[in-house]
Amino acid sequence: MAQRPYIVGNWKMNGTRAMLSEARAVDRAAQRHMKVEVALAPPYTLIHAVHREVEQIWVGAQDCSPNPDGAHTGDISVPMIADAGAKFVILGHSERRQGYGETNELVREKADAALEGGLRVIICCGETLETREAGKAEAFVAEQLKASLPKLEDAGEKVTVAYEPIWAIGTGKTATVDDIAAMHSMIRTLLIETYGEEQGAEVRVLYGGSVKPENAGEILGTPEVGGALVGGASLSAETFMNIALAAGDTVEG
Ligand code: 13P
Repeated sequence: MAQRPYIVGNWKMNGTRAMLSEARAVDRAAQRHMKVEVALAPPYTLIHAVHREVEQIWVGAQDCSPNPDGAHTGDISVPMIADAGAKFVILGHSERRQGYGETNELVREKADAALEGGLRVIICCGETLETREAGKAEAFVAEQLKASLPKLEDAGEKVTVAYEPIWAIGTGKTATVDDIAAMHSMIRTLLIETYGEEQGAEVRVLYGGSVKPENAGEILGTPEVGGALVGGASLSAETFMNIALAAGDTVEG
């Protein structure tokens, strides 16, 4: 059975308790739009509070440490975010890969730790403009994913991939539908090679990068696009849920 579209809001380093009303509004709207699976990843400081406010949507974190505990000043472990109410974690976002030198190996270690701790994972990938212009985007993303994806038997349920071309993040630019279709089809092939026919077909592949209500219908209607990872537009419940509505419109019935 085809899975519901998965619309995930990544609040990045935005939000104080004043934003809890937006989370409540997202949750209320999500209860009326069950054709779509909706999730929010607020900053660490709000995970517990958002978790307490919502009934329907998934709550997750934007990163985690590969270590379960110990002398790692400033880090947050999987048991900590799970205890706060997180059910998933976004890993390998380009802002962490570029800003903190996170390697594929580290992303994979974090993914192993997250899965071990009972969380689901969203593994991010995506190329720079330079790589795309050099015609190497698909090869780059394939290498990135091969080295970042965790190995497990039941990936279909626990692993999601997010393709976010770096040049499209926060810029208002989006990849063309043809480029998105080509990249997502390559990712699907790689997922089937990695996890086998059945599990590889179940892993959802999200698109991210300047997704807005205006372009969501077209992007989410593209073959192999199983949802969206939304940054800026997820900070307003109304805008975010308009993206979820557009996702729902791509589903029959
Ligand atoms: P924007 O939607 O703000 O472009 O951010 C995308 C993103 O990085 C989500 O993780």
